[in-house]
Amino acid sequence: MNYYCTSKQIILLLILIQIATPISAFGYAKCFLAYENSQYANCIGQRIVNLTRAIQDLPIKTQWLNVSQNDIVIVERKSFFNLPNLLGVQLNRNQISTVQSGAFQNLKYLRWLDLSYNSIKSLDKWDINDLTDLRILNIGHNNINTIQSMSLTPLYHLQELDLSYNYITNFTTVAEAINNLTELSTLNLSSNLVTNLSTAQRLITLQSLKILDLSSNSIGVLDLSYFYMPNLSGLMVMKNNMGAINASSFSNVPKLAQINFDENPLNISFLLGIQLPDLTELHWSSMRPNLGNNLTIPCQVFKSLPKLEVLYIMHSKVSHYNIGKIGECTNLTTLVLSTSPFKKLIQRDLQMFKYIKVLYLNKCKIKEICKTTWIGLKFLHTLILERNNIFYLQDRLFSPLTGLQYLDLSKNSLTYINSRSFEDLNKLKTLILRSCKIATIKPFTFRSLRNLSFLDIRDNSISRIKVKTFDRLKILETLLLSENKIHSVQGNSLQELVLLKKLTLANNNIYKVSNTTFHSLKTLKILNISRNALSFNKLDSVSPFQKLKYLESLDISYQRQRYKDPVSEALFQGLQSLKQLYIQGIPSSFFKDVSFSFLTNLTEIDMTGTFQGADLYSMVELIRKCNQIKYLRLDNNEITNIPVDTFVGFNLLENLSLKYNKLKNISQHLVKPLSNLRNFDLFMNPLLCSCENYWFQNWSKFDPQVQIPFLESYICFGQVTHEISFVNQDLNFCGTDISVYFFIASFVLTLLLLVASLVTVKLKWSLLYFYHMMQVWLQWRIKKEKKLYTYDAYISYCSEDEDWVIKELMLNLESKGQRKYKLCFKSRDFIPGSYHIDNIQEAIKNSRKTLCVVSRNYLESQWCKVEVEIACSRVFYEKEDVLLVVFLEEIPNFRETETPVSFQHL
Ligand SMILES: *[C@@H]1O[C@H](CO)[C@@H](O)[C@H](O)[C@H]1NC(C)=O
Ligand SMILES: *[C@@H]1O[C@H](CO)[C@@H](O)[C@H](O)[C@H]1NC(C)=O
Ligand SMILES: *[C@@H]1O[C@H](CO)[C@@H](O)[C@H](O)[C@H]1NC(C)=O
Ligand SMILES: *[C@@H]1O[C@H](CO)[C@@H](O)[C@H](O)[C@H]1NC(C)=O
Ligand SMILES: *[C@@H]1O[C@H](CO)[C@@H](O)[C@H](O)[C@H]1NC(C)=O
Ligand SMILES: *[C@@H]1O[C@H](CO)[C@@H](O)[C@H](O)[C@H]1NC(C)=O
Ligand SMILES: *[C@@H]1O[C@H](CO)[C@@H](O)[C@H](O)[C@H]1NC(C)=O
Ligand SMILES: *[C@@H]1O[C@H](CO)[C@@H](O)[C@H](O)[C@H]1NC(C)=O
Repeated sequence: MNYYCTSKQIILLLILIQIATPISAFGYAKCFLAYENSQYANCIGQRIVNLTRAIQDLPIKTQWLNVSQNDIVIVERKSFFNLPNLLGVQLNRNQISTVQSGAFQNLKYLRWLDLSYNSIKSLDKWDINDLTDLRILNIGHNNINTIQSMSLTPLYHLQELDLSYNYITNFTTVAEAINNLTELSTLNLSSNLVTNLSTAQRLITLQSLKILDLSSNSIGVLDLSYFYMPNLSGLMVMKNNMGAINASSFSNVPKLAQINFDENPLNISFLLGIQLPDLTELHWSSMRPNLGNNLTIPCQVFKSLPKLEVLYIMHSKVSHYNIGKIGECTNLTTLVLSTSPFKKLIQRDLQMFKYIKVLYLNKCKIKEICKTTWIGLKFLHTLILERNNIFYLQDRLFSPLTGLQYLDLSKNSLTYINSRSFEDLNKLKTLILRSCKIATIKPFTFRSLRNLSFLDIRDNSISRIKVKTFDRLKILETLLLSENKIHSVQGNSLQELVLLKKLTLANNNIYKVSNTTFHSLKTLKILNISRNALSFNKLDSVSPFQKLKYLESLDISYQRQRYKDPVSEALFQGLQSLKQLYIQGIPSSFFKDVSFSFLTNLTEIDMTGTFQGADLYSMVELIRKCNQIKYLRLDNNEITNIPVDTFVGFNLLENLSLKYNKLKNISQHLVKPLSNLRNFDLFMNPLLCSCENYWFQNWSKFDPQVQIPFLESYICFGQVTHEISFVNQDLNFCGTDISVYFFIASFVLTLLLLVASLVTVKLKWSLLYFYHMMQVWLQWRIKKEKKLYTYDAYISYCSEDEDWVIKELMLNLESKGQRKYKLCFKSRDFIPGSYHIDNIQEAIKNSRKTLCVVSRNYLESQWCKVEVEIACSRVFYEKEDVLLVVFLEEIPNFRETETPVSFQHL
């Protein structure tokens, strides 16, 4: 009873104390700090509604904050108050409609603010006085219809302002608002509702503006006569409703170098006679009239532009026999003819473009192309032929292009590649043959590409890599062969790629690599052969990777194979430089005999989905010798239990990820050896709120070095009725402090019990007596009124004292005193003829009290002893306090042993 009360009180007290000190676990509900850069807080797509709360615990050093793709409606006052060092904030793709005044208070170093894709209506009430260092502000894709002139004034370092996709109608108001932003160089007003540019009352100077984007508005007339922009170099007015140009406009933009008139109903003749001495780049897709037949006027315009180098004329309907005329009247270096309707390019159609360097012929529906097409283009270095219908490449097709460095042929239908197609391209560095339905590549196809360093043949239908396919590519660095149907790579086919650094063969059907396949790739750094059908179990004793001395990253994840036999020990032999190994989705049993001890430099290993019910300890045991590991990923492995010594020896481990497993408890001993741990990810495990996890809940408090991403969003597993947050569940009673109190409490209790039992033994009789007397007293209090007695007292005495009894006692009590008592006096009241013992019993029973007149004689008398015992028995059995004692003389040692036991109670 005692124990219970005290400990309960102590616990209550402790709980009260603990509630007062909040648990400051490192690991936030909605954000995590990037492993690579702890100053970057990633809060993307976490269904955040309350921004203030989501970011309030982030560390003060945070510089970059990405809260994109959430459900934030309001940016409250002082939301960022705890993060004064922020340089960049992304709040795009939320539903923000309100930005309270003072929302950005304290962000005096902020340089980049992205509020695009929200529902902001107005910037008027913003209190942005603190954003004095802001360089880039993006409020595109909102509902803004006007900008008050003063609202942007404090942003005097602003360089880029994006107001695209809003409902702004009046350009003048915007121009006035940015008028004093002396560093603003880019203004994006595309996709608004501007119709008229000439609404200003006076000339507005936009001194620093360099790029002005007014595309996708409804501007009818290009009239810049009220806006003086001495430094403007780029003007985009594409997709407007522009039918005319105010000729005086261009005198206000003397440095204009680039202009985009794409998709306007504007007739090119409006540019006749206009002075644009610095114009180098003209975009005029869907030009009016179209370039189908008469090119006289366009050429007149082009001729008047002395510096024109870059021309974009998509959807121009220019035909292949006409295109040369543009070449005649220009000195272009870049020509973009995408989506022009060329079916054939067979004559010397392009030879007039003498200075051309970059040519875009993508999406032109070209079926046929001839060598003669390229004659004269000796400066061409980049040729884009992507998305045409080219199905055949004739012999030496590109041979006139002696300067070609970059050739993109992707998305054509090149089922078959002629082995002489690429001859003479000996300056080519990059060749892209992606998604071309190529089925076979003949040997020596690339033989003259002596300078090729990048070859992309992804997403084709190649089934075999034959010997000599890549011969002579002596300086090739990157070869991309993923997403084909390759099932075998012949022994020597990669033999000559002696400088290859990156090879991807992912997503094929390769079932076998021999010990010579990668034999000569001595400089290879990255090899990806994931998602094939490799089993490795027909391995020779020599590893296929043995010669890859400089390989740093190897991906062999997800092989479509039934993994019958374990693979040989030597699989990773020779990979002494390997840093990253990905073996996702391969059952660990497959590696049972493999020695990982060759991988002495391994720092990162991904074992996601490898576990499948085996024992984790033996899995980790495999890589225990790789003691350089910093990043270990064991996600999605159905792990239910981790032996405490699993990670012993992984001293350098910084990042341990155990996401999507079935862990219920985390032992403290597990992480003890991991002295360098920085990130410990246990997201989506059914963690219990048990005492076993109490340490874990409190751990980060004492070790803020370790981040547990989304810790605050963990919930207690098994709480059926309502979710309880793992960190907020009070587990303090599990703590070590409480056990001290328990110890003290039980110690005190034991002590008390000890004392009590000692006391009981020593004073047993006294206690018992006391107990009975108490009971008697209580009973008497209750009963005294109810019972009727014949006598008030029975007088117990011995015959030697009768004289005193008659003369003193009875006289005083029966007749003299104020109150008259009725006494039972044996010589007078005993019924003659009855047994003496019966008389005594009756008398005691019928008397309220028994009065013992004690003297030496009394103590020696046997009858008196009997009377006392009978009276005492009433005390014990009837719970009545009946004894009164009168001492007639001094009786020394009354309670000593010589007195009969019966009298000791008197
Ligand atoms: C957001 O959270 C903060 C702090 O927890 C609180 O003061 C504020 O009222 C909350 N705002 C809303 C809109 O719920
Ligand atoms: C922020 O998140 C979005 C994803 O929603 C991403 O596109 C963007 O690049 C991220 N920003 C940075 C700086 O990483
Ligand atoms: C711009 O600055 C001038 C003087 O420097 C001042 O008169 C004017 O009010 C300012 N305009 C805005 C919109 O801040
Ligand atoms: C546009 O704004 C300017 C100045 O703010 C004003 O003078 C002009 O009347 C406005 N134009 C229209 C069409 O509202
Ligand atoms: C082309 O147009 C110009 C001016 O509009 C005209 O003089 C010329 O005759 C036209 N040429 C042809 C072949 O129609
Ligand atoms: C092209 O360059 C040549 C010589 O460099 C020059 O004479 C000619 O005027 C230029 N043509 C145009 C349209 O600029
Ligand atoms: C490769 O394996 C074959 C047996 O399949 C063996 O004869 C040959 O010596 C091995 N090559 C090397 C370089 O070890
Ligand atoms: C292992 O890594 C260290 C540090 O990156 C490097 O200096 C060393 O050369 C590497 N060892 C081998 C065998 O590549």
